[in-house]
Amino acid sequence: MSEPTQPAPDESPGQPDGDELPRPPGPDGLPVFGNVHTLADDAFAFYERLSSEYGGVARYDVFGTEAYLLTDPEAVRRVLVDDHGRYVKGAMPQEQLGSLLGEGLFLAEGEQWRGQRDAVRSAFFRERIEAYGDSMVNHARATADGWDDGEIVDVHEAATDYAFAVLAESLLGDDVDAARGTARAAAESITERFDTSRLSSFLPDWVPTPTRRRYHRRIDALRGTIRDLVAERRAAGPAATPADADDLLGTLVAAAEIGAIDEDELVDNAVTFLFAGHETSALGLTYTLYCLAGQPAVQDRVRTEVAALDGGVTPSVVRDCPTLTAAVDEALRLYPPVHTFFREPTEPVTLGGYRIPAGVVLNLSPWTVHHDEQWWDDPGCYRPDRWLRETADGTVRGDDTAGPAVGQRPEYAYFPFGGGPRHCIGMRFARQELRLATATLLRRFELDRVTEALSLQASANTRPAEPVRLRVRARER
Ligand code: HEM
Repeated sequence: MSEPTQPAPDESPGQPDGDELPRPPGPDGLPVFGNVHTLADDAFAFYERLSSEYGGVARYDVFGTEAYLLTDPEAVRRVLVDDHGRYVKGAMPQEQLGSLLGEGLFLAEGEQWRGQRDAVRSAFFRERIEAYGDSMVNHARATADGWDDGEIVDVHEAATDYAFAVLAESLLGDDVDAARGTARAAAESITERFDTSRLSSFLPDWVPTPTRRRYHRRIDALRGTIRDLVAERRAAGPAATPADADDLLGTLVAAAEIGAIDEDELVDNAVTFLFAGHETSALGLTYTLYCLAGQPAVQDRVRTEVAALDGGVTPSVVRDCPTLTAAVDEALRLYPPVHTFFREPTEPVTLGGYRIPAGVVLNLSPWTVHHDEQWWDDPGCYRPDRWLRETADGTVRGDDTAGPAVGQRPEYAYFPFGGGPRHCIGMRFARQELRLATATLLRRFELDRVTEALSLQASANTRPAEPVRLRVRARER
């Protein structure tokens, strides 16, 4: 895709950021609108063109807001890892998601963010994630039980119901039934509110459209339900420490009891987990199943691997299934559920040899980097084998951080879960869930594509614009 940009000057964090460095190049835009017309037309194509024509740090403009697309993996690493202290999430995600996620983990900054991350981290330790495995498998079995031999299913709809059920149960444990109605209604309203095919989605948040009113009503109802559940947990006696709790809400209540988070943070985080964690996982499962349905030979290989699991499908055994793991990782490369996310430098910085002012929008785009020919051979092709390599004794192994180009591809040529201290806290949860659900479904069904070409929309996540239809054929049990 892009030619390497000009050699970067010394960018060590201690160096002053030189005013003499050039500003990044980019296309001309229209007065007032900037580049918004081409961006709205097809955001994925716009980002890929920007990167191939202008290199790893490219400038664009959205309604007068100065924005920079970062697709140089080295620059991405500097922002997320080496120099993360010089960046905040900034105004863009706050405007889009602030009314929903409040000051929960996804949007909090500085000390408030650190306190929250420390308070909930025990809920994402390996043992705790493994304990959610039964729920992940049971809900996948329930999905399979609902499918008839030969039926055409909308796999995006099925994956959304599945991921929502798993997350709601992990968050709320036995209280899930009490909250199912309000949580489901809120989830539907959020999808509607951010639907980019509706022009009203682009209006400022204060414009009271019927969709907006419904959205705010339902979010308020969900918050009310969560507050009631919190009161019940307190009455029943919360866990002594966050690490002793059985579910995410229990972790949050225990964290509030010891003063690690306050009451508003508790509710904001319950909402954050519910919504940061279910659509992304649903999309990951949708694209994994869709990709496998398009490649019967790969699908057969994954099935052979998981059909041989004598002890059934469990978190520890699926972790050791290299073809299954590669099938999931490759789907997250080709169709990263989070296509872009944002940062804002709090001071002038140097990236890729260019000067970037404070306060601008930096757009980090897994989508564009995952489709860059500099790092990926035939990037538009679904090829799980690129994640597998032969070992000396001839067995094939999965390797999460390296494919055939071990050591040649930069680390941040692949970052579906972000990176650095603010990487996705649910990554292990999501990867386990995707493996368990894919394994469970493939043991029961063969998948064929009915929808051949995916049409995608770049809303908050990488969503299918149309139903994704697969025909499911039951296997002998
Ligand atoms: C395939 C599924 C998923 C994908 C692709 C994904 C992707 C991401 C990405 C790219 C970020 C970083 C955003 C940034 O740096 O601005 C992130 C953060 C986050 N994710 Fe996920 N995610 C997934 C599943 C989950 C799940 C299952 C949960 C919860 C159970 C979750 C909760 C969060 C939270 C709370 C953050 C903010 C972390 C922080 O700032 O400290 N995600 N996710």
